[in-house]
Amino acid sequence: MPIPKNEYLSDTWRDGLFDNKIVFCTGGAGSICSAQVRALVHLGANACIVGRNVKKTESMAADIATARQGAKVIGIGEVDVRSVESLMKAVERCVGELGGIDFTIAGAAGNFLAPMNQLSTNAFKSVMDIDVLGSYNTLKATLPHLLDSAARHKTDGKSPSISTGGRIIFVSATIHYTGAPMQTHVSVAKAGVDALSTAVCLEQGPRGITSNVIAPGGIEGTEGLERLADMSGKEGKGGKGGLNSGIPLGRLGTLRDVADATVYLFSAAGSYVSGDVLVVDGGAWHRPSTS
Ligand code: HXC
Repeated sequence: MPIPKNEYLSDTWRDGLFDNKIVFCTGGAGSICSAQVRALVHLGANACIVGRNVKKTESMAADIATARQGAKVIGIGEVDVRSVESLMKAVERCVGELGGIDFTIAGAAGNFLAPMNQLSTNAFKSVMDIDVLGSYNTLKATLPHLLDSAARHKTDGKSPSISTGGRIIFVSATIHYTGAPMQTHVSVAKAGVDALSTAVCLEQGPRGITSNVIAPGGIEGTEGLERLADMSGKEGKGGKGGLNSGIPLGRLGTLRDVADATVYLFSAAGSYVSGDVLVVDGGAWHRPSTS
């Protein structure tokens, strides 16, 4: 049963915006990344999503494909972003079946709540490996195709930096701006992800690549929010109600808010935005700490 369009995408965008564009997304079966890909597919893109769980990834791909008649969405399971070889194989299949990669979303992430003095070295390393090394591996595996795309989609016929292809978005967080209890490992990892995006912007910009970070806050219906709610406590000022009331815009974010930010950054309207962090949190990270 397809999800009604207005639940995952605002009517700001025109159908066909991403006709002939191909998206490669890690963590694509997760709530945030699947919403991002669904929006792009609705607007004309074809997509390849990868993840560790075969069944979950394949069934999410089939579900996303219902967003638009004729859409091609491949779901490839058994891909661990910690292994560049498994990513390379998935990229090869994506390019073979869909014809290239114009946009990459590096969205695979690992998270659990743990106080820093109870984290094992391996627990810390696991999150660093999934978030930081995994994002780098995703970049490494897709960059040659993003460069081709930037060159092929030059809109002035000359400069690859005036192009509608060759874009990457890293999905990060806001917790490292202020620090967050029980999230040392994730905070350190997300700071690394942000730094990686800046490096891509600087080094690959002259070749036409734009690189940006989307940093979601509390987004309803996501695993991340469940974890934040657990961290704050289910009752009183904590829990989902408490998180909601501390947000300047007075509500939690929606998957549509993140999807809209993604569409903006990948659209022609986002052509001159690179090395940026688009925080989608209703202003929440600016609020003074009450703890
Ligand atoms: C302490 C823990 C732990 C916990 C795992 N570990 N869970 N330590 N508290 N709750 C430790 C293990 O004991 C082990 O250390 C090490 O971490 C690796 O665990 P494995 O289970 O072997 O690793 P793996 O199977 O690779 O799983 C990785 C994972 C897992 C990160 C631990 O949670 C995972 O796969 N997550 C993917 C899905 C996910 O987290 N999505 C959430 C994204 S939300 P030892 O020493 O015993 O070997 C998000 C939002 C962020 O990112 C912003 C909002 C807060």
